[in-house]
Amino acid sequence: MTIATILTPRMIVIGGGAIAQVADVLGQVGGTRPLVVTDKFMVSSGKLAAATDVLTKAGVAFDVFSDTIEDPTTEIIEAGVARMKAGGYDSLVAFGGGSPIDTAKAMSVLAANGGKMRQYKVPNPIPKQGLPLVAIPTTAGTGSEVTRFTVITDTETDEKMLIAGVPCMAAAAIVDYELTLTKPYRLTADTGIDSLTHAIEAYVSKRASPHADSLARAAMAAIYRNIRTVCAEPQNRAAREAMMLASTQAGMAFSNSSVALVHGMSRPIGAFFHVPHGLSNAMLLPAITAFSAGAALNRYADCARFMGVAGDDVSDQTAVAMLLDALRQLNADLKVPTPKAYGIDEAKYMSLMPTMAEQALASGSPNNNPRVPTKDEIVALYQTVWA
Ligand SMILES: NC(=O)c1ccc[n+]([C@@H]2O[C@H](COP(=O)([O-])OP(=O)(O)OC[C@H]3O[C@@H](n4cnc5c(N)ncnc54)[C@H](O)[C@@H]3O)[C@@H](O)[C@H]2O)c1
Ligand SMILES: [Fe+2]
Repeated sequence: MTIATILTPRMIVIGGGAIAQVADVLGQVGGTRPLVVTDKFMVSSGKLAAATDVLTKAGVAFDVFSDTIEDPTTEIIEAGVARMKAGGYDSLVAFGGGSPIDTAKAMSVLAANGGKMRQYKVPNPIPKQGLPLVAIPTTAGTGSEVTRFTVITDTETDEKMLIAGVPCMAAAAIVDYELTLTKPYRLTADTGIDSLTHAIEAYVSKRASPHADSLARAAMAAIYRNIRTVCAEPQNRAAREAMMLASTQAGMAFSNSSVALVHGMSRPIGAFFHVPHGLSNAMLLPAITAFSAGAALNRYADCARFMGVAGDDVSDQTAVAMLLDALRQLNADLKVPTPKAYGIDEAKYMSLMPTMAEQALASGSPNNNPRVPTKDEIVALYQTVWA
């Protein structure tokens, strides 16, 4: 019998306008004086006011740390921890995409445990629980608001580290699709494919369980049916709402199952070449699905059926072929470039492939893949997707 351990935030508030409850949610998880963690764009665009106006109105005293960067680094986390220690806060509120949410999680972990962030990368344990975090995503997306992970790049080694455990869970999440209405085309497409990858990888993972399966299935169906619409019609509220809910569901799915080879290989591309996370997943997803499918044909065939690209009347083999066609067509429709077309330096990419393969394997994610690759096979896959 397989035993699944399920982690979720204590409270998740979902729906358009849910941000109005931020002060109440913060209070319910014991926060009275939070540090709000966000990025510069959220402040300059006025988006952050959706949260801070509510806190001000409720008489909550807060400060804002807005130095978060895309793909947060250990340097930023250390700066954030210094801010936390100086301010005497009892809680954190993260507002933004996966980067601010991951930053706040890592700040909570490092402030409580001390030392260096790399001490806590998987498979190392995180001994102490930090301050409670209210996570508010503005992308649909990473699902970080409901996952037991944070992903931080080591400034000294350029390694994109995976850090996991109960202390990385937000205490509460506010999932309000209205915050995503301003996402531009590229961000909408990339973050949407990130969610789709979470759902597919959670479902085919060796660590899949019936609980995670149900969430992955719902997410795949919704994302595949809405992703083109949400890219073409950014103000389509129904499509935005479907994508936001699916992103959170996909996050819960992979947090309680795992990601696999796509994410394992995607992180080094992001770390060395600063490709947005969802985009590097998209570059890899069709080729890695083709590489892996034979090892779990029925599971990949299920994915094709959940997404609506194959019916019950076709064989698993045919359904998987249809899935591959659908993933390649989705990349074409959403204008996903190859690493070469993205403008990555060829000599650097080729020379770093062995290092990237080592880092991918060290993250542990490839071990959850239906077909566990050798280092040489990972190098060959990096080679395959290049152009
Ligand atoms: N912890 C996890 O479980 C997990 C899972 C997947 C990915 N990640 C990590 O999350 C990070 C990526 O997060 P992301 O894809 O959400 O992007 P992001 O947070 O890096 O944001 C990308 C850009 O989009 C902007 N932006 C965010 N929301 C916007 C909105 N509503 N309107 C307009 N612009 C907006 C931001 O200001 C930023 O410039 C990566 O570092 C990735 O590794 C973490
Ligand atoms: Fe992801």
